[in-house]
Amino acid sequence: MFPTIPEFTAFCKKKGLFYPSSEIYGGLAGLYDYGHLGTKLKKNFENLWRNYFLGLDDNYFEIETANIMHEKVFEASGHLKNFIDPVVPCSKCAWKERADHFIQQQLQKKAEGFAPEELTGIIQKNNLKCPQCKSALKPVAVMNMMFPVQMGIGSTGRAFLRPETAQSPYVNFKLQYELQRKKMPLGLALIGRAYRNEISPRNLTLRQREFTQAELQIFFNPKKINEHPQFEAVKDYQLRTLLVGDRGSGKAVERTAQDLLQLGWPKFYIYHLVKVQQFYLEQLHLSPTQFRLSELSTQEKAFYNKYHFDIEVELAEHGFTEVGGVHYRTDHDLSGHQRLSTQTMEILDEATGEKFIPHVLELSFGVDRNVYALLDVNYEYSKERDYVVLHLPEKLTPYFCAVFPLVKNKPELVAKAEEVYSAVKQKFSCYYDESAAIGRRYARADEQGVFYSLTIDFDSLQDQAVTIRNRDTTVQERVKITRLLQRLEELYHRWQ
Ligand code: GAP
Repeated sequence: MFPTIPEFTAFCKKKGLFYPSSEIYGGLAGLYDYGHLGTKLKKNFENLWRNYFLGLDDNYFEIETANIMHEKVFEASGHLKNFIDPVVPCSKCAWKERADHFIQQQLQKKAEGFAPEELTGIIQKNNLKCPQCKSALKPVAVMNMMFPVQMGIGSTGRAFLRPETAQSPYVNFKLQYELQRKKMPLGLALIGRAYRNEISPRNLTLRQREFTQAELQIFFNPKKINEHPQFEAVKDYQLRTLLVGDRGSGKAVERTAQDLLQLGWPKFYIYHLVKVQQFYLEQLHLSPTQFRLSELSTQEKAFYNKYHFDIEVELAEHGFTEVGGVHYRTDHDLSGHQRLSTQTMEILDEATGEKFIPHVLELSFGVDRNVYALLDVNYEYSKERDYVVLHLPEKLTPYFCAVFPLVKNKPELVAKAEEVYSAVKQKFSCYYDESAAIGRRYARADEQGVFYSLTIDFDSLQDQAVTIRNRDTTVQERVKITRLLQRLEELYHRWQ
C-alpha cells in the first residue's frame, strides 16, 4: 500500500532520512537536510551512478569544482537572459505562484514553456482568481531563478551560485581535454550542488532551492553523431518511450533503438538513452512499467537543447515525475564561452586536420529526486506486519545487514554476536543492535530497509551457525559462521 504525502513526510522524518533544514528556527522553504540514513542512501545512489556512468568509456572522468561562478559564465550560457520562470501575483494580497504550475493545477492543462503573454491570456480567458483572497490576478511577469552572490567586501563584480552543475565542466573543458591526451569523446562527470530560487518550492525534496545533481557532459565531434561503436549491440533493445505524438494515449510505447533511428534520432543519442534506461532497470531495479523516457516538445525543451527527453519515474502521489534528462545541447555552451571569454574552444582532429567546436550530450540527474523516487517506489506499508517495509535494492539500501544477539543478558551469546559483527562490518554496511525484543529489532530493520538480519541464538553456541532473515520474504536460512561472509557475498551480488 502506498503512503499519502503526510504519511511519507512523517516516515522520512521519523527515520531521519530527510527533513526541513534550520527546523529549530521554523525552517526555510525549499531547503532540506539529510539525516544519517538518508545520507547513506544518497551516497549509495551517487556511488552507483558514478561507477555505472564513468564505466561507459575509459575517457570519462570525474571533476569537482566551485559552486560559486563568475557572472560571465551565465551571460555566455544564456542563463542570465533565459533562466526565468513565469510568476503570477495577486493584485491585492501577497500570494504569488509559478504561472504554468498554477494553470496546470487549476485547469489540468500543461502550460510549461508558454510565453508570459500566453499564460496571462489563459488566466484571463478562464477567469482564474487568487486562490487565497479571490481577487483578480496581475499579468504574468518573469523572474530570474539564479541566486546572486556578493563576493568580498565592497566588491563590484557579481557572481552567482550555479543553477546547474553543467557549466563547470564547460568552463573546464579546454584544460581537461589537453590533460586527457586530446581524445574524443571526452566525458566530464560532476556530482555537486545546484541552486535555484524556485518561486514555489514544494513536494519535499522534489523541488528545492538547493539540491544535488549528478551530470555527465559528453563532448564529441558533431560529424560523428550518427556513430557509436556499440550501437549494433543495443539496436534491438526496447526503450520505453513517450513521444510527443503518444501523449493522447498517455502510455509509453516500446520502441527498439533501431526504431528510434528510423524516426530520426542519431545513434550516439539513442545509445545513451539505452544506457540510461538500463541504469534504472538493471542497477536501480525499477520495474519497466515504473519508467519511461518522455520526449519534450519544441515549446517545452530547455533553451539550450536540440533533443530533450525527460527521464521519468512513476511516483505514488505524483504520477510520472521527471528525475533527469538526456539533453543534446549542441555547441550552445562552448560557443557561448568562446565568444565571451575570447578563448578558443576549438579542437583539432589530428587524423583529418579538421578543426571544430565539440558538441555536448548531457546526461543529467537530480540526485534528491532519484532518492525520493527510490524511497517512494520501495515503500510498502505491510498490513500483515503492521509497519512499513522499505524494499530498497542491496546496493542502495543504507544498511545491507544487521547483527542481533537473541538476548542481551547472556554473555556468551553477546560475545559470539560481537565476533560475527566485527567480521561482517569489514565487508558490508552493517550495524549491531541488542536492544528490545527480537521482533521489535526486525521491525526496525525492515523499516530502515536492512536487507538481511543476522541472528545469533542459543543454538549458535552449539552449531556455530547464524540465522539469516530476508527482509522481503521474512524467510530464514541457517548458515555456518565459517561460510557466512561467502553467503552474504553471494546475496549482495545476486543480480550479476
Ligand atoms: N544541466 C541540465 C539541467 O540542469 P534540468 O532539467 O533543469 O537540467 C536536471 O535539471 C535535473 O535536476 C532535473 O531532472 C531534476 O531531477 C533536478 N532538479 C531540477 N530542479 C530541481 C529542484 N528545484 N529541486 C530538486 N531537483 C531539481
